[in-house]
Amino acid sequence: MSSPESPDLAALLTIADLERAAAAALSPMALRYYRSGADAEHTLLENQAAFARWVLYYRVLVDVSTRDLSTTVLGTRVAAPILIAPTAYHRLAHPDGEVGTARAAAAAGLIYVMSTLATTTIEDIAAATPGAPRWFQLYVHKDAGLTRALVARAAAAGHSAIVVTVDTPLLGRRIGDERHGFALPDGLSMVNLLGDATPRSGSALAAYVAERHEPALTWKHIEHLRASTALPIVLKGIVRADDARRAADVGVAAIIVSNHGGRQLDHAPATIDAQPAVAEAVAGRCEVLMDGGVRWGTDILKALALGARAVLLGRPILWGLAAGGQPGVTRALDILTTELSRAMALAGCANVHDITRDLVREAPHR
Ligand code: FNR
Ligand code: LAC
Repeated sequence: MSSPESPDLAALLTIADLERAAAAALSPMALRYYRSGADAEHTLLENQAAFARWVLYYRVLVDVSTRDLSTTVLGTRVAAPILIAPTAYHRLAHPDGEVGTARAAAAAGLIYVMSTLATTTIEDIAAATPGAPRWFQLYVHKDAGLTRALVARAAAAGHSAIVVTVDTPLLGRRIGDERHGFALPDGLSMVNLLGDATPRSGSALAAYVAERHEPALTWKHIEHLRASTALPIVLKGIVRADDARRAADVGVAAIIVSNHGGRQLDHAPATIDAQPAVAEAVAGRCEVLMDGGVRWGTDILKALALGARAVLLGRPILWGLAAGGQPGVTRALDILTTELSRAMALAGCANVHDITRDLVREAPHR
């Protein structure tokens, strides 16, 4: 007998179904935090809506009796062109928390990108997923010693890349969090950091970011970081071709075309629209990934056709986690990999190399 606490996951057929199940399971505060975008939430909506403005000119009479979704990302072989985006506070969504997410990613043969703002220690996640591919997403703090320690701990715990988030010099304005307040409940904290900010009112996260994150983050920091770690550096949060070229010039291994799921600067471009110019600008000098609004297998197909090597999933993973813990994350990944496999077959693609730019065109303006 299913219930909001343990829905029948097999009956949840789409990411939207998972979101509805998550909404039934989450506290209003948690749901508001996970769902929110910045300001008027224009970019939040555009991230998904923009996919519909790209249409698929599929090929016919291709043998697609078997499809191979696998690829490599920074040299790591993955079962599908999908990574788990870094998102904060997984134990707010479900007691399985980041360990549940990381285990589901490992079981699916995918890379888990852990957030600096996790509610589980770097070491506990590593111990729960020995040998699994993991990246560490870094928020550069004003406290340079803390920043260095986070990178060192991630490297020691076996993370194979450092993802520097560069679109968050301060936190985007999430009006629901400001209006109703947002703070982690007792028993949960950003366990890899030194104490939470003391929320006066509004969002405790916004207070923490304002107090502790480095708003003076520049390309110099990226060059210093490159010199201080042997791990490949990935920049997350780029939407401009000139910034992408500069990232390739300073030697980053990959960039993630991202607008933080519409949670930072409202009216930023939808990432699927920003993707083509960025991919063209770096011209293979570094790998290009993208995230934002990916909810269907066809979205992933379009992102790859427009030059992304893989996509990252944010909210779909949180919906799966909230709906059903580790099995719920597995369900989210199963939904999207099955949809991608079907979309590839119907588009005449037997493997990711068949997913080429000519498959996608902008929809005619009516
Ligand atoms: C995020 N995101 C994010 N990014 C990051 O670099 N560090 C972080 O800690 C977080 N935390 C976070 C929390 C929540 C609740 C959300 C929704 C997002 C952004 C995330 O990595 C990713 O860029 C977006 O979520 C992608 O968009 P979709 O898939 O959520 O539409
Ligand atoms: C957010 C921060 C944690 O988007 O990245 O909430």
